[in-house]
Amino acid sequence: MAKCSSCARQVSEDVPLYTGPWVPDAYERFAVLGMTGSGKSYLLKQWVEYLMGRRQAVVVIDVADEYSRLGNPRPSKPGFKLGPLTQRMTIPAFRAALRHDKTFLLRADLALSLVPTPGLLGPDLAAEIKAVLPALRARGNLCLFVEELAVWGRFAELELLDIAATWAKEGVAAWFVSQYATGIPAPVRGQVSSCISGEQFKASDRDYLTRDFGRAFAHSLHPCPPRTFRIAFTRSQYADEHHQRAKERRK
Ligand SMILES: Nc1ncnc2c1ncn2[C@@H]1O[C@H](COP(=O)(O)OP(=O)(O)OP(=O)(O)O)[C@@H](O)[C@H]1O
Ligand SMILES: [Mg+2]
Repeated sequence: MAKCSSCARQVSEDVPLYTGPWVPDAYERFAVLGMTGSGKSYLLKQWVEYLMGRRQAVVVIDVADEYSRLGNPRPSKPGFKLGPLTQRMTIPAFRAALRHDKTFLLRADLALSLVPTPGLLGPDLAAEIKAVLPALRARGNLCLFVEELAVWGRFAELELLDIAATWAKEGVAAWFVSQYATGIPAPVRGQVSSCISGEQFKASDRDYLTRDFGRAFAHSLHPCPPRTFRIAFTRSQYADEHHQRAKERRK
């Protein structure tokens, strides 16, 4: 064990750190975890920008309206930055637009934030989001970021499992984002190939991560320095590719 340079606590060395984004293959599915304020959305906005630069179509289920240049700018939050998506639609506006003309959804450079109606919670929020999924599936060939699952994921368990288990065939790679592991329904976690997590303070949350992604990973998340995320791969193929990419970045 080495010591963290900022807090002097002991940190694990043998579990890979997240060092930057990559273009996933369509069979890769991510869980992105960490307490509120840990920097998940910050990390993912950078990932979205990277994907846009590599001509990947991106759609974000943008519950906090923060991934597009046109999102909620939050002037009272110092350091807060909106994401790079070029198009923002509320979910009702998206559904209305699809009734007239689907061509905007088929653009190769799609970079779309889909914003649920503010104030919806739990089953109501889930119902609104579920209604856009068939159109996203039919479009296919995209990177799909699904935010704030702790708030609504348990009301859309079957739909999320469908995304995780079968949408790869349509060329959809998915990122499932939640503050803690149980915010992502267990069958969906079972489909995740790559888990990226910041500090997990609670032993019970680490227990779930031990079950899904192994003891070494769960152990490495407490203590885990601020703004640090670690990665677990449940398929060795992705771990090997990650090591290769990390080596190339260091060159
Ligand atoms: N690596 C970083 N460097 C600088 N600022 C950061 C970094 N990571 C996060 N921040 C800032 O910290 C704040 C919280 O980050 P962020 O919104 O990404 O947290 P979060 O994990 O998504 O939280 P929540 O679960 O509440 O959505 C933001 O204002 C963000 O700009
Ligand atoms: Mg966030």
